Amino acid sequence: MKKILVCGAVRDRQMEQMREAFQVEDFRGVSLDNNPALETALGEADALINGGLPITSALLDRAPSLRVIATISVGYDAYPVDELSRRGILLCNTPDVLTETTADTGFSLIMATGRRVAELDSWLRRGEWKGSVGPAQFGKDVHGKTLGMIGLGRIGAAVARRGALGFGMSILYSNSSPKPALEEELGARRCEMAELLAEADYVCVTVPLVKETVHLIGAGEFALMKPDAVFINLARGKVVDETALVDALKKGRPGAAGLDVFEVEPLPGDSPLLGMDNVVLLPHVGSATHETRDAMAQRAVDNTCQALRGETPLSPVNLDSWQP
Ligand code: DGY
Repeated sequence: MKKILVCGAVRDRQMEQMREAFQVEDFRGVSLDNNPALETALGEADALINGGLPITSALLDRAPSLRVIATISVGYDAYPVDELSRRGILLCNTPDVLTETTADTGFSLIMATGRRVAELDSWLRRGEWKGSVGPAQFGKDVHGKTLGMIGLGRIGAAVARRGALGFGMSILYSNSSPKPALEEELGARRCEMAELLAEADYVCVTVPLVKETVHLIGAGEFALMKPDAVFINLARGKVVDETALVDALKKGRPGAAGLDVFEVEPLPGDSPLLGMDNVVLLPHVGSATHETRDAMAQRAVDNTCQALRGETPLSPVNLDSWQP
C-alpha cells in the first residue's frame, strides 16, 4: 500500500478519506526537528502533504521513494522546483480555493490602513478619546480613489474587482501580460510601473516571488509614490526591500503601509515596523480562514490521492517532468 506522510494541517475527516486507499503517517502538530519517527516515515513515503517542513536536498536524499509533494499553499517559492523535477517528484499547490479569501485580506488591509483602524482602536483604548475627533485622527478615503495593482493574477484581479465594483476605484495595473477581459470588466488600465506608482493612491503588490521579483519594490519605487499613498504587500516579504520601506515610511512617502508578509517571518521582535503607527501588520494570514484552510487541505489531499492513483492532479506545478 502506498504511503502518505502528513506534515500539514489536514483535517481528521480528510485523513480518514486517505486511509481508505493508502497508509497514512500522521505528523500533524508534532515537532519535526530531530524526530526519528519522521526520518523512518520519510524513508518509506511515496507522498508528502506539507505545511512547513523545509524541503532541502538533504531531506530529499532521505526520501528515496517520494514521488509527490502536495503543499498546502498556492505559493511554492519555498520549494526547489527544478531539483524536484530532476528527481521526478511532482509538486502540487492549492490555487483558486484561496483567491477570494486572500483578496478579502488585501482589501481589509487597504481599509484598515487608509482609515487607520488599528491605530485609532489603540488610541481609544489608551483613553485618548476626550472630545470630538479632529484632523489628527482623520484618515484617507478609499472609495473613488486610484488603486494601483502590481501584479494582476488571480488574487490581484480579485482585489481589483473589490476596488472597482465595490468602491468605485479606478484601477491601474502593471503585469507581465495584458489582461483585456479585466480591462473590459473593471475599466482597468495597464501602464508602466513608474506611472502606476506616481498616480495611485493605494498601491497593492500581488506578484509571485521568483528571482525577477526579489526586491521589485525598493527605495527608487517608494520615491516615485505620492506622499500620502498607502502601500499594501499581499505577495511575499522578499518582493519588497523592507529596510527601504522603513526608511521611506519615516520620510512619509508612502504615508502608510499595510503588510501581511515580511522578509523574515515570524516578524522579529526588534523590527522597526513594530514601532510605527502608520503601519498595519498582519501575521501572514492571507488565506487564514476556517473555510479556506479547510478547502486548501482538501485540495492537497485530492492532489495527492489523484497523483498516487496515476491520474493528473487538479493543481500540478511541474507536470512536464513527472511520470505517474
Ligand atoms: C499561500 O498559500 O501561498 C499563502 O501565502 C499562505 O501561505
